[in-house]
Amino acid sequence: MIFSRLLGLFSNDLAIDLGTANTLVYAKGKGIVCNEPSVVVMRMDTKKVVAVGAEAKRMLGKTPANIMTIRPMKDGVIADFNAAGEMLKYFIKKAHNRKSFVSPRVIIGVPSAITLVEQRAVKEAAEASGAREVYLIEETMAAAVGVGLPIDEPYGNMIVDIGGGTTDVAVISMDGIVYSKAVKVGGDTMDEKIIAYVKEKYSFLIGDRTSEQIKIEIGSAFKIDEARTYDANGRDLISGIPKSVTINEDEIRETLAEPIAIIVSTIKTALENTPPELASDIVDNGIVLAGGGALLRGIDALIRQETRLPVVVTDNPLTAVVMGVGKMLEDLALLKRIAVG
Ligand SMILES: Nc1ncnc2c1ncn2[C@@H]1O[C@H](COP(=O)(O)OP(=O)(O)OP(=O)(O)O)[C@@H](O)[C@H]1O
Ligand SMILES: [Mg+2]
Repeated sequence: MIFSRLLGLFSNDLAIDLGTANTLVYAKGKGIVCNEPSVVVMRMDTKKVVAVGAEAKRMLGKTPANIMTIRPMKDGVIADFNAAGEMLKYFIKKAHNRKSFVSPRVIIGVPSAITLVEQRAVKEAAEASGAREVYLIEETMAAAVGVGLPIDEPYGNMIVDIGGGTTDVAVISMDGIVYSKAVKVGGDTMDEKIIAYVKEKYSFLIGDRTSEQIKIEIGSAFKIDEARTYDANGRDLISGIPKSVTINEDEIRETLAEPIAIIVSTIKTALENTPPELASDIVDNGIVLAGGGALLRGIDALIRQETRLPVVVTDNPLTAVVMGVGKMLEDLALLKRIAVG
């Protein structure tokens, strides 16, 4: 007992969900130790890091010209290698309480559509941050494990992970992905649509953070009850003066209809491509939604209506992937069965 406690003390192994919107770190034996936005603020000239994570996100859209705010991940993959490396380094250090550590084993959840070159980039970024052994796991597989689906059985499970950059749909049976499809449509696309709509309709410019807030506060995929409103602050493009505009739920739902239709059609394609025996399992057990986008109001109701299948949003959609990678960290046999690289 004392011995295992000691072992736990020296274990530095980490599981990471390197997401487009959020990065989460799970430490072996401890659980989630870090959950922050995937944002880095750097000085333009010296490339020195000013802030990472929540602190950096607060600076989004507010930095002077010589300081840049970077989102190192785009569409689910590394867009800025240097910034991604800095971010990983910071989070790994933070997960270890800023104490020095023996190079840890690290497992990282990556999108299933990731290319070999991108896989190498993720591995190199982790190695540059001090990781010793790096394993990559497909995010949908991790999400399925995280939400507790019986992935090892000869049984069809469908998981849909609606993230910031991508929506990943997968059908899993016997520890393997039978079918998977990713589209570069997720929460970020929704935020961009809201900015474009408000600009077009009201000649009014809002920032990324405001548009995300509008989506979270009054966004919906399906009409449920009376429309809520949101007072958005921004800049009037005609007078050039800051002001506030009231936006309602119905207009936002219409604005989000297009990206949401793409998500629904990706799910339908997956269903059409699922072998019949597995499809019949999905008819019985339904579709499980994970990722932050699963929190959009009414998205489950819409998918239920469009597919006529049972649809459930998992209890903690934002932590599903990291919890799954965390379970693999605790169960190396499971990890070896399903690691992609
Ligand atoms: N209540 C909510 N309603 C709608 N969207 C939400 C809500 N809460 C969070 N989101 C959105 O979920 C997205 C983040 O989800 P998540 O953390 O799963 O993405 P990610 O894992 O970082 O991205 P990816 O998997 O694409 O790399 C963001 O776009 C965020 O705005
Ligand atoms: Mg994700």
